[in-house]
Amino acid sequence: MKDLYYSEYIELDRILDSQHPRSFESMEEGNDEMLFIIIHQVYELWFKQILFELDLVRHIFIQDGINDNSDDMSKVVQKLKRIGKILELINQQVSILETMTALDFLEFRNVLLPASGFQSKQFRLIEAKLGLKMEQRYKTEYYKHTRRGSLSESDLQEVHRAESESTLKELIIKWLERMPYLDQRYWKEYKRNSPVDKPVTEAEPGDRHKFWVDYRIAYQNSLSENEAGRLREFDKVFFEEGRGDVPPAAMQAALFITIYRNLPIFQMPFELLNTLSEIDELLSNWRYRHFMMVRRMIGLRVGTGGTSGAGYLEGTLSQHYAFREITEVATFLIERSKRPMLPNALKEKVSFNL
Ligand code: HEM
Repeated sequence: MKDLYYSEYIELDRILDSQHPRSFESMEEGNDEMLFIIIHQVYELWFKQILFELDLVRHIFIQDGINDNSDDMSKVVQKLKRIGKILELINQQVSILETMTALDFLEFRNVLLPASGFQSKQFRLIEAKLGLKMEQRYKTEYYKHTRRGSLSESDLQEVHRAESESTLKELIIKWLERMPYLDQRYWKEYKRNSPVDKPVTEAEPGDRHKFWVDYRIAYQNSLSENEAGRLREFDKVFFEEGRGDVPPAAMQAALFITIYRNLPIFQMPFELLNTLSEIDELLSNWRYRHFMMVRRMIGLRVGTGGTSGAGYLEGTLSQHYAFREITEVATFLIERSKRPMLPNALKEKVSFNL
């Protein structure tokens, strides 16, 4: 049998035979269209890998009702960190394309009309699988298949399908809501450290858990005069409405994990939440770099895909986040020394016992 050959294994011929700049008269006199095509292809390959990792992570959450203490949790964090590393790399790649000047781009820009990165199905799937919904997107009218340069009908359907499957954000919310840290079994011996008259009893139905009563007081004490309105927001976010599409119970768990992240069992969950914020930040760094590059390349002209161009991209930058609510938990943190002391029963439960 013939030995497997390198180029055969990675199907190199097919990849290397996939660059056909439309503006070239001859390869020798070629312009920057070759670079333009290759850089888009490289991006799409990395998008493919990101989607692969994302699906794997979603699968772990869907299958097992993930155990915070298991291998699964570290696998999830490892895969998400990998996505972060890929995003770091593709952020840096923008500067390679920036070696092309605006005039260089004009030499071939017309041949690609009305194609545009806007139509990158894989990019849209990454956003959707992370948790960004169509109604949360900036200028949703651009997605309607009524104009040139929009997504094809079948690509759009695929994006809608990804939205309707469990997104990473929805799975994270369910996982957060399952956290048993406020279970009354662990709170019987809790010594209140707040000056509240009410005797320490089991929380009555509809009543706030004594931990949160104390935390709220500590938070209130931490606010400066011009932040007084934050207390009302605290109630809304953690006990009434939640924040964005994250319900109160999940917001409470995210805050609890963040405050007590030094406890062994919360170290991985904290890493997970932190990595989600990092992914959001790295994606938005990419949006920013792409937007700045576009402004340099085409100024204020409309994009090949028919949007308003740089203005549209600037709009997505302030709006397209999947994990904004998780990141903004920082609004409600207090100093370490002011945190309520956890009861021993809970501390034992959340420590690794040898
Ligand atoms: C000369 C370089 C580039 C220019 C001038 C440019 C221009 C634009 C413009 C104007 C848009 C808005 C849609 C439109 O009206 O066309 C856009 C969207 C987009 N471009 Fe680029 N682009 C460039 C390079 C790239 C590269 C290398 C990628 C990598 C895949 C990329 C990916 C995207 C994506 C994913 C969007 C959709 C962004 C969103 O809607 O949030 N672009 N681009």
